[in-house]
Amino acid sequence: MTLSPSLLPEHVVLDDFAVEATGLLVAELRAAVRARGLVSVALAGGGTPLGLYRGLAIMAGDVDWKRVHVFWGDERLVSPDDPGSNYREAFEALLSHVPIPPENIHRVRGELPAGEAVADYVAQLRDWAAVHDPRAPNPWPRFDIVLLGLGEDGHTASLFPGSPVDVAAPVIAVTADYQGRPAGRVTLTPRLLNDARRVIFLATGAKKTAAVRKTWTIDDPVRFPARRIRPANGRVTWWLDRAAAGDLTSPA
Ligand code: 6PG
Repeated sequence: MTLSPSLLPEHVVLDDFAVEATGLLVAELRAAVRARGLVSVALAGGGTPLGLYRGLAIMAGDVDWKRVHVFWGDERLVSPDDPGSNYREAFEALLSHVPIPPENIHRVRGELPAGEAVADYVAQLRDWAAVHDPRAPNPWPRFDIVLLGLGEDGHTASLFPGSPVDVAAPVIAVTADYQGRPAGRVTLTPRLLNDARRVIFLATGAKKTAAVRKTWTIDDPVRFPARRIRPANGRVTWWLDRAAAGDLTSPA
């Protein structure tokens, strides 16, 4: 299966959030490349990052794409050309428009049965880390940048409210119904995500205000899985638009 490169529409309208986030992320990508010679990024699914992905495509000339390696924080168990595929969304908005080598794109093979997709992704992560991140403390990468969305129910990646907390595995399969999206999923777990150098949560729109507020203020990682993302040697940042922030001013 191959997706053909899509054309960026003649006019791409980016909202203020996308413009701001694009500038910030370009700076992060460049800083990581300067520091370590390459940058590993886990992309988020969902609709929130699409403006950012389109912004990065427009700013393609500002990033040395040969040095960028992309992964996904989670994927739906559908084929990569399915409209529900997180890979497909990122490919159409970003990856098909930038000179990133195909071997730098490390997608979850959502077309496989769940167990096989998990095993395949674990192997990809292990093999990549052995070559490009040999000093990583565990047999998976210490991602330079992890982008994460936030669901209205408080889920992040495919860590849904009520999902098991003490998971030793870096990748798990999950079944979860959310807004009619594909239910079968594969997700990175906090075990791996908490090795990251930098985690950036993205949330926009008034529909996210309550989830952001509860995640920040209610100490219940089972109901609000984003609370479990606390890198031991990394930073967490929230990029919100005004609507998602509501009247919040700073994280608890
Ligand atoms: C997915 C996700 C998921 C997403 C949130 C927010 O594959 O569904 O990665 O965690 O980030 O559901 O989605 P929206 O950005 O569409 O609100």
